Amino acid sequence: MPPINKLIELRLQEAVLAVLPDADVASVLVRPCPDPKFGDYQTNALMGLAKARKLNPRQLAADVFARLNLTDLCERVEIAGAGFLNFHIKRQAQVAALEAAAAGGPLFFEPADKPRTVVIDFSSPNVAKAMHVGHIRSTILGDSLARTLRLLGHRVVTDNHIGDWGTQFGKLLVGWKLHLDAAALKADPIGEMERLYKLVNRLSEADPAVLEEARQELVRLQRGDEENLRIWREMIALSQVQFDTIYERLGVRFDVTLGESFYNPRLQPLVQELVGKGIAVESEGAKVVFFEEIPTLKAHPALVQKSDGAANYTTTDLATMAHRLETWKPDEIVYVTDGRQQLHFQQIFAVFQKWRSGEKVRLAHVWFGSILGEDGKPFKTRSGETIKLTDLLDEAAERALKTVAEKNPTLTEAEQREIARVIGLGAVKYSDLLPNRQSDYVFSWDKMLALNGNTAPYLQYAYARIRSIFRKGNVGAEAEAAPARILLDAPQEVALARRLLNFGIILEAVAEEYRPNFLCNYLYDLAGDFTAFYENCQVLKAEPESRASRLAICDLTARVLKQGLDVLGIETLEQM
Ligand code: ARG
Repeated sequence: MPPINKLIELRLQEAVLAVLPDADVASVLVRPCPDPKFGDYQTNALMGLAKARKLNPRQLAADVFARLNLTDLCERVEIAGAGFLNFHIKRQAQVAALEAAAAGGPLFFEPADKPRTVVIDFSSPNVAKAMHVGHIRSTILGDSLARTLRLLGHRVVTDNHIGDWGTQFGKLLVGWKLHLDAAALKADPIGEMERLYKLVNRLSEADPAVLEEARQELVRLQRGDEENLRIWREMIALSQVQFDTIYERLGVRFDVTLGESFYNPRLQPLVQELVGKGIAVESEGAKVVFFEEIPTLKAHPALVQKSDGAANYTTTDLATMAHRLETWKPDEIVYVTDGRQQLHFQQIFAVFQKWRSGEKVRLAHVWFGSILGEDGKPFKTRSGETIKLTDLLDEAAERALKTVAEKNPTLTEAEQREIARVIGLGAVKYSDLLPNRQSDYVFSWDKMLALNGNTAPYLQYAYARIRSIFRKGNVGAEAEAAPARILLDAPQEVALARRLLNFGIILEAVAEEYRPNFLCNYLYDLAGDFTAFYENCQVLKAEPESRASRLAICDLTARVLKQGLDVLGIETLEQM
């Protein structure tokens, strides 16, 4: 059975088409009413349609209303405000939806009827450099978007666009050949490569001959010198091992990892094509794309070839787009990076428009703000170094362990550590996903690990608490025996049910706007509704019919919490 909101949407769209046969009804959607007083769902789409056609919105709402037949689903439909329609769902329809899910059906969402192919470019750290906070945010955010889209039935390709090419390799090669500390390389490859880079950087500031040597090493690498290629490949392989350790720990995986160097053979032909089509022009020896027609980009032409003939980050990204379109024919390409790259993506999207105007792929730059320390400055260690994710996760688990040990003194240390790992990792991820991604947020251990408040540990405990009801009542078999009949009586029960039914809408909103924070807030509200329900409604001690119904509602809540946390990339435990 499709979710109630979908059923309403379909009928609403039919009614709109009956009134306005040429309307594009794809945007005629229903959303949960912000205030339950006004109904369960509402649509504001009619106002948009009326505006575009210079119709009276309330009249349009009345005309659509007259064609709507929702008597099986709605108790009442009202025209409200400037042209909203509010829908009050029948209790029986809610019950039927809950019973269908309780009998093992999907949790109030429907796999997309038109699955999209979505390429997600995220994480994308740079070889020979530690991942910085921006890469970590990209990894966490990108992974949760990939998981959400997959759950909704879309085809997702996750592509890690590693920075494995560029001028930094000149200095790295000089460092590797002259100053390499083999033991240090073994112990911490990226740390050693960072040291080499910084060292040669310093040396070349003092001595132009070193800079010249670096330039020559780079040229040799670009010309395919065996020795340099070998070292370069080793740098990539060593970095990849360290990146993989992090991904493993985070539970993140990529379908493909195609670094920037993969696109090298395509760069020159691409520049020629852009010049040939008159999209790029010569300017002071370089090849440039101007955007006279785009006010925000007028002052920011895109460089696609430097005056020394070298292609750059922009050229590589354009070649990458072409490759992705050929390989996966995506409907959508999503790039997850920090906000400092906004101009870059505006430029490549604008070049793409000129270059491949016929393509109808949706391009999205999903950008995010910075993480700040409690002092309000960029998040760094006390000595000013960038923070290493491994240290961060170790500290998170260490801090969580204190609470876990207090709460569960009888568990073995290994069990306590496993719980602490799940809490620490969840807390770090959740604190990254919860804020509106475009605003900066302050990193706070106390806040993210708090057991009360909008945190991962709070939700993980909420889940484990529900599971403990089942253990305490010893209900496994009895719940499986007969699918429960759901009874909705107490107001807290009704409120919880309404919330559960909205899970699918929230997932879709996350996928549509690339905002996992919608889901975080939803799960937090759900856990709150559950608490109110559990405080006011007897479950294990209720009369048999009511007990079975309430257990089913508990189980549905646990399933939604688990699935919701799962698409955020956060694990749950049966017992904490
Ligand atoms: N490696 C880049 C950086 O660290 C991020 C790459 C993002 N993806 C892309 N297709 N440009 O800044």
